[in-house]
Amino acid sequence: MRSFLDITDLSKEEFWHVLTLARTLKEEYSKWGQNAPLLRGKILGMVFQKPSLRTRVSFDVAMLHLGGHALYLSPNEIKLGERESVPDVARVLGRYVHAIMARVFAHEHVRQLAQHAGVPVINGLSDYSHPCQALADYFTMWERWGSLEGRTLAWVGDGNNVLHSLLHGAPHAGLRVRVATPPGYEPDERAVEVARRRGAEVVLTHDPQEAVRGADAIYTDVWASMGQEAERAERLRVFPPYQVNQALVEATGNPDVIVMHCLPAHRGEEITDEVADGPHSVLWDQAENRLHAQKGLLVWLLGERAA
Ligand code: CP
Ligand code: NVA
Repeated sequence: MRSFLDITDLSKEEFWHVLTLARTLKEEYSKWGQNAPLLRGKILGMVFQKPSLRTRVSFDVAMLHLGGHALYLSPNEIKLGERESVPDVARVLGRYVHAIMARVFAHEHVRQLAQHAGVPVINGLSDYSHPCQALADYFTMWERWGSLEGRTLAWVGDGNNVLHSLLHGAPHAGLRVRVATPPGYEPDERAVEVARRRGAEVVLTHDPQEAVRGADAIYTDVWASMGQEAERAERLRVFPPYQVNQALVEATGNPDVIVMHCLPAHRGEEITDEVADGPHSVLWDQAENRLHAQKGLLVWLLGERAA
């Protein structure tokens, strides 16, 4: 039983296979206004402990386009680990649905779901990682550039879950990652270590200008992630030098640099309106590509592999 808890769950071949499927399904939908019903009769259970726009809607729509169905289970319904233990939720839900997508606080909880559900489990964001986002982001860069090999992505801001998943995917993509965070907000060293061990070049710095010099992409995300609301005031004090603004975009020296953000954005904090709405921004392509990348993932997990 395969699950998708982190990009590291995919071999390099599987990673590119999923992205290739995503491209085929995107082209098919764009040409015909529909997809072949590869997941007819399949049901995805979607468990959320946190809010969501993109993850919730893109998985729901992906299942509909592929002839299946998705069930949205809000934070108030299941109360994962409160009303019922995580393994018990997994055991029961796994009897009703063909796959589970879960957005959780503790990464351990998606692990437990995968261990006990008896059906594939997809991590729709945990405090540790956000592999569906990174899959869509690599797809977006691949569409733009044709090849990712040797390109440089500069991450500026908090060393968070989205960065961890980008690091996990960097060796598969052949991407170099430069990370600029304030001291004390570096990414988890396990994610850095796994990227380096598998052959990706990862540079950690506290200097945003240094990180972005010559970069092909600048990526940023909110300064306080979901669950870190209590730290927001302190983070707002520490992070302003890491804002992605026009001056930082120009510091790349690359007229073709793209600017990325997983969204939701806190405009005026980690990114300015000028940059988010400017000519380098690919924010809306990234958001759209969540749909296509997840179609590729769902077909791989539930269509082809189950066949
Ligand atoms: N990028 C992303 O996962 O967005 P949501 O939190 O709206 O799902
Ligand atoms: N780092 C953000 C990503 C939201 C999609 C968070 O975890 O809140």
